[in-house]
Amino acid sequence: MERTFVMIKPDGFRRGLVGEILARFEKKGFRLVGLKLLKISQDLAEKHYAEHRDKPFFPGLVAFITSGPVVAMVLEGPNAIAEVRKMMGATHPKDALPGTIRGDYATTIDENVIHGSATPEDAQREIALFFRPEELL
Ligand code: CMP
Repeated sequence: MERTFVMIKPDGFRRGLVGEILARFEKKGFRLVGLKLLKISQDLAEKHYAEHRDKPFFPGLVAFITSGPVVAMVLEGPNAIAEVRKMMGATHPKDALPGTIRGDYATTIDENVIHGSATPEDAQREIALFFRPEELL
């Protein structure tokens, strides 16, 4: 069993894709361990995306991710990290296959609907940033 952190970004929330995305993960068989709607602070955004701090797109990324509500969740299941990333599709929607979340719903890399942890270390760090232990059921 593995846990991963997933976030529906402000564009996904604004466009009413929350139910559709949650349904895909539930139907696949992942267990929902944590779930919350929140508006990310500047500080949390900078911590969450710390690895991109020196990239040219960092200021735009932080501005976007703090621009409106997001849905944060923790999913549990076999190979959850890799399986969720498969279901999300490639980071750049132009490379994401139809049938994946980004392939079906996103057109630009800046507003690509969803984020999922890339590695077990990222998952652990991101889950701890967004959830207190008692919020994981
Ligand atoms: P995400 O999986 O949330 O991780 C970092 C995000 O930065 C990524 O999805 C993209 O939405 C965003 N981003 C914007 N520009 C780029 C870029 N040139 N390369 C990678 N990620 C980018």
